[in-house]
Formats: sequence, C-alpha cells, structure tokens
Amino acid sequence: MPSLSDATRGRVLFGGDYNPEQWPEEIWPEDARLMKEAGVTSVTVGVFSWARIEPRPGVRDFGWLDRLMDLLHGSGIGVVLATPTASPPPWMGSLHPETLPRDEDGRTVWWGSRQHFCPSSPVYRRYAAALAEDLAGRYGGHPALAMWHINNEYCTHCWCDETARHFRRWLRARHGTLDALNESWGTSFWSQRYDSWEEIIPPRRAQYTKNPGQVLDFKRFTSDALLECYEAERDIVARHSPRVPVTTNFMPLWSGQDAWKWAEREDVVSVDVYPDPKDPYRGQYNAMLGDMTRSQARGPWALMEQAAGAVNWRGVNHPKPRGLNRLLSLQSVAHGADVICYFQWRQSRQGAEKFHSGMLSHAGERGRAFQEVKRIGAELAALGPHVAGTALTAEVVVLHDWDSWWADQQDGRPSELVEYTELVRAWHRALWESNIPVDFARPDHDLSGYRLILVPHLYLLGDRAIENLVRYVRDGSTLVCGFLTGVADEDDRVRPGGMDARLRELFGIGTVHEWWPRAAGEQVRCDGFLAGLWSEELELSTGEPVARYRDGELAGLPAVVRNGRAWYVSTLPEPAALRALLAEAADGAGVRPVLAGLPAGVEAVRRGELLFLLNHAPTAVTAPVAGRHRELLGGRTVDGAVELERYGVAVLRELPSDPAAPRAGGG
Ligand code: GAL
Ligand code: ZN
Repeated sequence: MPSLSDATRGRVLFGGDYNPEQWPEEIWPEDARLMKEAGVTSVTVGVFSWARIEPRPGVRDFGWLDRLMDLLHGSGIGVVLATPTASPPPWMGSLHPETLPRDEDGRTVWWGSRQHFCPSSPVYRRYAAALAEDLAGRYGGHPALAMWHINNEYCTHCWCDETARHFRRWLRARHGTLDALNESWGTSFWSQRYDSWEEIIPPRRAQYTKNPGQVLDFKRFTSDALLECYEAERDIVARHSPRVPVTTNFMPLWSGQDAWKWAEREDVVSVDVYPDPKDPYRGQYNAMLGDMTRSQARGPWALMEQAAGAVNWRGVNHPKPRGLNRLLSLQSVAHGADVICYFQWRQSRQGAEKFHSGMLSHAGERGRAFQEVKRIGAELAALGPHVAGTALTAEVVVLHDWDSWWADQQDGRPSELVEYTELVRAWHRALWESNIPVDFARPDHDLSGYRLILVPHLYLLGDRAIENLVRYVRDGSTLVCGFLTGVADEDDRVRPGGMDARLRELFGIGTVHEWWPRAAGEQVRCDGFLAGLWSEELELSTGEPVARYRDGELAGLPAVVRNGRAWYVSTLPEPAALRALLAEAADGAGVRPVLAGLPAGVEAVRRGELLFLLNHAPTAVTAPVAGRHRELLGGRTVDGAVELERYGVAVLRELPSDPAAPRAGGG
C-alpha cells in the first residue's frame, strides 16, 4: 500500500487548493511562476471542477486539465488531484432530483451551493464512479500526480426514502433480526416496537424526543454511508495508479465521520484546520488536532487546508497577526505534519468565499500574506530533509471515541451543558500547558507502551473497552478518568449502578448515588480548587478521596478519588487545578515534560532529532535550553538559551558537546 512518503519523498509538501477554473487561462503561467517563488511543491486541483469537466451528462472536457497538469509539471509542481464529486453540477439535480438530499423535515436541499448530494443515491454514485474512472484513466500515469484527494470534507446527511432503504439494509447487517433491533433500541418504551423492516425510517422530524438507539445507529450509518462513497472512488483511482496514495480531507473533530474507522481505510490521513486567530488557545487547538490526526494516521499526516489569513465563515473574521501563520504552520510540522497546505492558492474575486484569505491575497504578490507564505515555503524546504517521515513519541494517551460522542450528545440527558469536545479540549490543554506530549486512541485500541491513560469523558464504553482499561491498569499503567464515563453500553443502555461495575471496582467506588450537574457559570468549591459543570454523589469502597467537595449538598463527599493507579475525577476542575492534577498523575507514572522551566506560552515539542520551541505569546521571550544546539531556521548556534520573537519559532538540533570546553561543575 502506498503511503505519504511516496508523495513527500523526503520533503514537507507545501501548497494549497488551486482552482484555476475561476481564472482566465492567461493567468495560469503567472500562478505557476509565483508558486515556484513561494516554494510551492504541490497543489490540490479539481476539488470543485465537476461542472467544468462534465458540462453535460456524460460529456468530458479534459483539455483544460491536460494543459494545466502539463504546465504544473513543467514548473516542477506536483498535483494532488481531486475527484470533484463534492459538488455535482446543476444538471444533476435538475435531471435527477432524487440525488438531492432531504433534511429531517423532508425538505429538499437544492443546488446553488455545494455538497448537495445524497450519499445513498445510486444515481449520484454511478455518475461519481464514471467520472472517477475517466479521471484516473487519463491522469493515473501523469508525472505530476502526487496524491489522490477523494471528494472534499464528506459531511452530507440525508433523510430521504432512498436513505431509508439503505438504512434498513445497514440495520439488517448490524442487528440480524428485527427482534434484536427492537431489543437494541429499547422500543418497548413509548410503544415504538417495529413489526416490519419497512416501518423503519431515518430519525425524521418527530413530536418529541427521538429514540436514542435509532439516532445513534443513524449516526453510525451516515458515517458508513459516506465511507462507502469514499471507498468506491478510492478503489477506482487505486486500480489505475496503485502506487499513488489516496486521501480525503477530514473536518477536524467533526462528529459526522468516525475518523478512527475512516483513517484505517486511507493511505494518507489529512485534515483541514482553522484555529480562530482571536482564540487565546488557538495554539492548543492546533496542537490537539495535530495530535489527533497523527494518532489516526499512526505517523506523519497531511494538513490539507488552513487559512493564510482570515476565513469568511465566523461572525467576525479576524486576520492572522504577523507571524501567526508561520507559527501555526511550523507547529503542525512539530506535531507530525509532512504536508502544509492552504485553502486556497489565489483568493477568489467572486463566489461565496471571495472574502476568505488565500496564499496570494487580493493585495497580490506584494501583500503581507504572500510575503509570509514565501518565507514559510523557504523554511519548510530547508526543514524537510531533517523532519519528513520522522516520528514523535508520547507516553500519555487521551481516549476519544465517536460512538461515545454520538450517544452523549443526545436530547434528554442530565445536562445539555456537557459538551464532549470541550472536555477533550480542556484535558488536552492541561497536558499541552505542561509540555507533556500526548497521542490519542480509541478505548479499545492497543494501549501498551503508554504509562498514562486519560479519559476526559466517555459516556458510552463497550465491554472490550472496559476490559482494556482494567487490564492496562493491572499491568502497570496509570488511568485518570473524567466524570460520567462508562455509563452506557454499545446500545446506549444504562449499565446497572450508573457506572459499569468493573470500573467502579477499579476506582474503588461503591455506589454512584446521584449526578449533580451544575448550572452555567456555577462554581463548586473543592479542597484547594474550584470546579464546575458537573459533580457526583459518590460512596467509596476501597478508593481514597484525593479532594472533597466543600459546598452545599455534597460537602465532605469525595470529588477526586484514587484507588492505586486508577483516579476518578467526578467534576471539571478549573484549568490550573486540572493541569496540576494531571501533572501529578503523570509524574507518578514516570512521565516527564519535554522541557521544564519554559516561560509561559512557550511550547516545546520533540519530533525525531529536532526540538521545536514555539512562542505562542504576543511578546518576545528568552527560553532556557540546556546544551549547545544548531538552530535550523536561522542558522545560528544556540548555547544555553534561545531568543524567541513574538510568535517566534526555533528548531534546534543538538550539537555534540565540545570536548575542549571545560566541563560545567568542574568534575
Ligand atoms: C473548507 C473547505 C474549503 C473551503 C474552506 C474555507 O471547509 O474544504 O473548500 O470552503 O473550508 O475555510
Ligand atoms: Zn437521500
């Protein structure tokens, strides 16, 4: 199977989405010239070219793409070629209205934007396959072809009749019999029992709260239905070019696709990351998505899209201050990216994204965006041979799972304030601020080799996952687990006792009497810290209270419990307290930070032989680093400390100590 290294060949790929169909052909040579000037190694072409390639059903216009591929190849620029199946041309919906998605209310989602296809539609799939076939037949052997990019950010949902039929087939494969389905969904409740498969529909608009089992299965199904679309196109292009890696770009932390499952079926895992420049923790967000994607890829990954400046889809769209694009790009490399790309190369003048930044902005080649892009391109070219293909190591793993996320975020639960992604983010931030490297994994994955296992919040845990946790703690790992974990089984059936018995035994908890969710903004006092969002009324068996609640109904009861190597945190401690708690657990597990004693805001990451120091603070700082290093971006030698400008980055490689120099300490 091909992999990312077949595309990178020892470099960090640099480039972006290139949509030349938006521009007169006379501009293309100038694009190629400026791309070379910016150090662009590859561009993603064709993502939204369906109407251009197939202007009428069955017709093919490849002439322009032939010329473009040749032009790029002649300029030494590789192509990540997309199957343009994310945005069908208007003729498709007009001729075949059944290819258009229907929303939960049965309303048609029309053409005029993008992504208006029903993943279950055989007609859509037939046209998409035919196009992928012809595209791959024509360009599968083109020397510019570096990678295949299938569709774009698979994200459509559909509730139509075709989807209903497809959903039933999927349910038959999952449950086997109708009795098993009724049992799994708990349809005895509210007279929901199904007497025939034909009665089953996608969870459409209903009078009141929907059946949670049905909703959970529909989310699983939708991810799988999109995955079928991906795999069908992947198989076609792979048949034509078995040595060219295939990817599709994820939206990060997006609930619609189970990225663990998808990643196993990709040669390259890629993601689109758009931190909000105004978010004070944008660096943590970027790091977390890097850690997540690297873990899904089990190695180097591709940053397929980011913005050189502002996006256009937030309420207020802030540009990136000078230096931030470079900082976040190099940070992604530090976290394992071997591809740094943007949406998009040349900022559009028309269409819905004309105010979204580009590498080449409306200000042109003299504009700040392009000047900064040029610098990043040059630096990545210098860094590539040192970093491409190298690995990161982490002794801490954060568990994250789509099934649990889906089951967790339903109506009718104890608190709608519990936001899964926010909890994952809070726990990752605690580690990130301590400069402790982390991987992510699914709870049933092989976790051997991790000293510390963290579960921010996994409401649903299957038996395999629970047995996994119990086994790793028994074998010597430390486990720290957040609240409302292990409550439900795979069918979202609440386990007896409100938390799985094996987990209660692990944490030394006898009984979970009540959950006490907290109101928005409400603080709860615990020994030495404030907490919020959630609390629990616990009765311990063998567990020891590490901290107790101090206020109200729960005063005197355990808030944080420890039972040997297993910890349970029944609330959300404020950030500094969570950081201290996880740092203590890490320390006890023998996990050390990459570097200690760094100024606030400075992140240290080791990748391969390189040490990245990243200054997320808006002011210059001096960071102590023991020993002598070569700084690869500026070419200077660093001895004992390194100056970092605001948003500055240093990439250090240790120098052998000078044998002639007197040794410190005089020994
Ligand atoms: C992505 C998408 C791109 C572009 C970009 C704008 O979600 O894949 O096509 O729309 O957002 O930020
Ligand atoms: Zn549909």
